[in-house]
Amino acid sequence: MNPATSSTSAGGRPALRVTEKKSIAAGVCRLTLVDPRGERLPDWEPGAHIELTLRQGLTRQYSLCGDRWDPMAYQIAVLREPSSRGASEYIHDELSVGDSVEVGGPRNNFRMVPAEGYLLIAGGIGITPLIPMIAQAEMMNLPWTLLYSGRQLETMAFADQMSEYGAHAVVRATDTGDRLDLAASIEAAPRGTKIYCCGPEAMVDAVESYCARLPAGMLRRERFAAKERQAPVRSLPYEVELAQTGKRLVLQPGESVLDAVVAAGVPLLASCREGLCGTCETPVLAGVPDHRDSILDARERERNDTFFPCVSRAASDRLVIDA
Ligand code: FES
Repeated sequence: MNPATSSTSAGGRPALRVTEKKSIAAGVCRLTLVDPRGERLPDWEPGAHIELTLRQGLTRQYSLCGDRWDPMAYQIAVLREPSSRGASEYIHDELSVGDSVEVGGPRNNFRMVPAEGYLLIAGGIGITPLIPMIAQAEMMNLPWTLLYSGRQLETMAFADQMSEYGAHAVVRATDTGDRLDLAASIEAAPRGTKIYCCGPEAMVDAVESYCARLPAGMLRRERFAAKERQAPVRSLPYEVELAQTGKRLVLQPGESVLDAVVAAGVPLLASCREGLCGTCETPVLAGVPDHRDSILDARERERNDTFFPCVSRAASDRLVIDA
């Protein structure tokens, strides 16, 4: 899509039109979004998400689950979550075919990296980013297995489509008493396998613990909600230098780096402010960040070359960031 010619909302983001809204499981609807002028949409890769601004102050990220080779349409699947901040209820109850919605992204914090094979683990609506990964693995003729669980079969989006993959896709509804043995499947995964997990907190935590002894980088996971954050490691102030402007800020340990940078007149994009969406990612040029996000894995953290200033701080006396 050419931003200069695309339809743009008052907020400056492209406004896409809903052209289809379809129930695909109990409590789950799928939206198809297109550019109202018929322009191509930005390319994306499996694992990517877009951010919908549904009304003032109500934004939410959704994984793309359609055909990545279709440049004209995005698809997302939305679970009705009555306990959430209202985004899913707005989509289910108010957003209609023909409406426009501001869309940011695509952005990808859950990139499908090259591997000899893939073990894909989904809980509930966590299936959505894995659907394009299955298509990609199939296209590349790489071995893959999906382990997909949910409470009841009728609430599990895409479960019916999985039967076409035979033994590749193991679908379990826990109300039948049938449970996946994730630990055994992870244990049996060949070393060249990459494991992708998206699902509820308890599932992701369990998979992380089962993968603890595997080589770093073998597991990638995406969470629905931010992990509980530890207190900042520092108890003393530190300096943040903004390399592009040369500005130097002195921050207290409890202060938000994002807020301090923005208050200094340097714009930084942000969305979730929880270390979950990746919007505020900023390269680190020197110093050691105190990573408190829910995105980076252990190996990515050790590189100390990027951080998420909405939640992360500094572990060293000084941090130089590319802002
Ligand atoms: S704003 Fe979402 S990760 Fe920082």
